[in-house]
Amino acid sequence: MGINENVAKPLDRLAGLLAADMDAVNALIRTRMESRHAPRIPEVTAHLIEAGGKRVRPLLTIAAARLLGYEGTHHQLLAATVEFIHTATLLHDDVVDESRQRRGRPTANLLWDNKSSVLVGDYLFARSFQLMTETGSMRVMEILASASATIAEGEVLQLTAAQDLATTEDIYLQVVRGKTAALFSAATEVGGVIAGGDAAQVRAFFDYGDALGIAFQIVDDILDYSGTTETIGKNTGDDFRERKLTLPVIKALAAADQAERAFWQRTIEKGDQRDGDLDEALAILARHNAIDAARADALDWAGRAKSALSALPQGEIRVLLSDLADFVVARVA
Ligand code: IPE
Ligand code: IPE
Ligand code: MG
Ligand code: MG
Repeated sequence: MGINENVAKPLDRLAGLLAADMDAVNALIRTRMESRHAPRIPEVTAHLIEAGGKRVRPLLTIAAARLLGYEGTHHQLLAATVEFIHTATLLHDDVVDESRQRRGRPTANLLWDNKSSVLVGDYLFARSFQLMTETGSMRVMEILASASATIAEGEVLQLTAAQDLATTEDIYLQVVRGKTAALFSAATEVGGVIAGGDAAQVRAFFDYGDALGIAFQIVDDILDYSGTTETIGKNTGDDFRERKLTLPVIKALAAADQAERAFWQRTIEKGDQRDGDLDEALAILARHNAIDAARADALDWAGRAKSALSALPQGEIRVLLSDLADFVVARVA
C-alpha cells in the first residue's frame, strides 16, 4: 500500500477534475520556491516539494473557487500561497518535533540542519505573503494572515500542553483547530471569497474546512500510534516520544487505573522512556478502546464537514468534497 492510499482516492479524483488549475499551481510553486541568491533555499525546498505531499490544501482552494463557478486565475495564486504556508510550517514543525522522516524521506533538519529548516521555512512564509498580495484582495490577505497567526498560536499552545497529563479534550481541540484546521478553513474560505461567494457560502466553506481539518488531525494523531512508517511516510511513535497529549492518550488517561496512570506519569510527564514502552502504550490504548473512541470523534467531525456543504451549490465538486471527508477518516477505518 502506498502513502495514504485511502485518502488518495477522492483526492486523485479532485486532482483529475482540477488538473489544469493544479498544473498552474505546481508551476507557481516551482518558480516561487527558487532563490537567485541563496543556493541552500532551492536545495531544501526541492527536497521537500519533489517528495510530493498530498496537496490537500491547494486542492481545497481550487475546488471551492470552481464550485462557485470562478473563471479567473487568482485562486491559483491563493492555492500556491496555502501550500507554501503549509510547507513552511512542516519545516518548522520537524525541527520542533525533532522528526526524522517526512513524506517518506529524511527530514530537512536531518539532511541539513535546524538552522536551514527554520530559515528556509521563514523564506517560504515570506514568499507566501508575496503570492497572496498579487491577488490585490485585502479580504483574502486578512484571512491568510490571521490563519498564519492562529497556526503559530496552536503550535505554542501545544508546546505548553505537552507533558501535562491534565490536558483536556477541550485544550486538545483548541490546539488542533489552531495548528491544523486554521489552514484548512482558510484554504476553503479564500477560495469562496475570491469567487465572490455570498456570506452564507463563505461561512459554509469556513465550516467545512474547519471540521475537515479537525478530523484530519485526529486521524493523523491516531496513525501516529496505529499506522506504519511505510503508509504514513513519517515515523510512528513520534508523538509518544515527544510526550504529546494527543486524543487517544487523553481518552486512555480518563479511564486509567493507578498502574496505568503511573505509566503515563513516567513516560509522558517525566519523559523516562525505555524499550518496550511504546508497545505498552499501545496495549493500554487498546485496553480502553481509546483509538476507537478517537476515531468516532473524527467521524463526527467528518459528518459536520459534510453537513456544511449543504449550503453550497450542488455538483461534482461538492460530491467529491463530501467524499473527501469520508476518506480522510477511512485512513483509520
Ligand atoms: C501534515 O499534513 C501535517 C498535518 C496537519 C498532520 P499533510 O498530511 O497534508 O502533509 P503532506 O503535505 O501530504 O505531506
Ligand atoms: C502538524 O502537526 C501541524 C503543523 C505542521 C502546524 P504534527 O506535528 O502533529 O504533524 P506531523 O505528524 O509532524 O505531520
Ligand atoms: Mg510533527
Ligand atoms: Mg508538531
